[in-house]
Amino acid sequence: MQNILVTGGAGFIGANFVRWLLRERPTVKIVTLDALTYAGRRENLPEQNRNIFVHGNICDRALVEKILREHAIDTLVHFAAESHVDRSILGPEAFMQTNIVGTFQLLEAARALKIKRFHHVSTDEVFGSLGPNDPAFTETTPYDPRSPYSASKAASDHLVRAYVHTFGLPATISNCSNNYGPFQFPEKLIPLMILNALAGKPLPVYGDGQQVRDWLYVEDHCEALVAVLEKGRVGETYNIGGGVQPKNLEVVRQFCGILDELCPQSPHKPHANLIRFVTDRPGHDRRYAMNIDKIERELGWRPRFSLEQGLRLTVRWYLDNAAWVKSIQQTGDFKQWMNRNYDKREEVKQ
Ligand code: NAD
Ligand code: DAU
Repeated sequence: MQNILVTGGAGFIGANFVRWLLRERPTVKIVTLDALTYAGRRENLPEQNRNIFVHGNICDRALVEKILREHAIDTLVHFAAESHVDRSILGPEAFMQTNIVGTFQLLEAARALKIKRFHHVSTDEVFGSLGPNDPAFTETTPYDPRSPYSASKAASDHLVRAYVHTFGLPATISNCSNNYGPFQFPEKLIPLMILNALAGKPLPVYGDGQQVRDWLYVEDHCEALVAVLEKGRVGETYNIGGGVQPKNLEVVRQFCGILDELCPQSPHKPHANLIRFVTDRPGHDRRYAMNIDKIERELGWRPRFSLEQGLRLTVRWYLDNAAWVKSIQQTGDFKQWMNRNYDKREEVKQ
């Protein structure tokens, strides 16, 4: 792993991954390819001569092949995607283009240029939704995607597997649970709620708030990905998760408590009083949980951060980065999204 192409490196996890590599692997050179959609921000990445930024689309095969050739790329780590379930419900087309066609174009370019490792970053949502007593997802759980987002990610996983099987492409896949941490776009549960709470706005909990997610601090995800790249077996998939599975309402209450403590002067204390139950997400998956035995056993990785530690770091980061937050909140796209997704949701009494 010397010359790495990171797709989607200006987004949440990609930017954390690039920053992690620049800090922890001082000899690797990185090229970041990102289309800078609403979710990608150039300023998420530090200016560094070991990180070259290319503004472009993963669907542009000629561009991808040029980058692979000119930078002698040996490793491609593929994050670029449309990633928000609610957006996939209101407008699925971009998900099919980027997540399926884009992955296909990258696979073709990687095959043509014979790169040494293609790593595909995927999600636990491909496995569907668990009942309250079902065992956690393993790497062999059958796929059962239930939203346009998860269906498009499942399709991309299948393409990667097909390229391993048919063409011998040296690829690996990881399926990870819900990440949170610095640079997460404030449309996702945790940053959205932190920012609403700071502004004294309602905290819109979908349905009854009893849905369960498996939460992982983003830096743990970055470490797991590097473990897969450095020690993982080609052709394998690895589950990555946080080993902690609270209900949504519990997570919201937990960071409201942290906010109360970190912002003792806030006029909106106690922040948990801002919680409102609103119309549910259509097709809302009830429960995810990841079995991470394989990555722990084979690669020696396990999460370092507890939910409490990760949430504290995250709340702190959003408090300290008001300019970053403001620059997003002021965009027309963000305001439009907030209206489109939340205006029609009615408050539901529990
Ligand atoms: P994000 O939405 O924050 O960032 C996506 C990035 O991809 C953005 O920088 C965007 O500009 C870029 N992008 C989108 N379409 C592109 C295109 N056609 N060409 C080039 N760049 C494009 O997403 P994220 O939360 O950082 O997720 C990254 C990856 O990890 C995704 O593949 C997602 O499915 C997967 N994942 C995310 C989570 C999570 O909790 N966020 C969990 C598991 C897996
Ligand atoms: O599980 C991994 C997946 O986690 C990733 O593949 C996705 O890219 C990522 O977006 C995330 O998907 P979720 O749909 O689980 O994340 P989100 O933050 O949108 O929602 C988390 C939970 O909180 C979910 O049960 C829906 C609920 N929710 C979300 C929002 C935005 C609310 O109750 N209110 C909200 O306003």
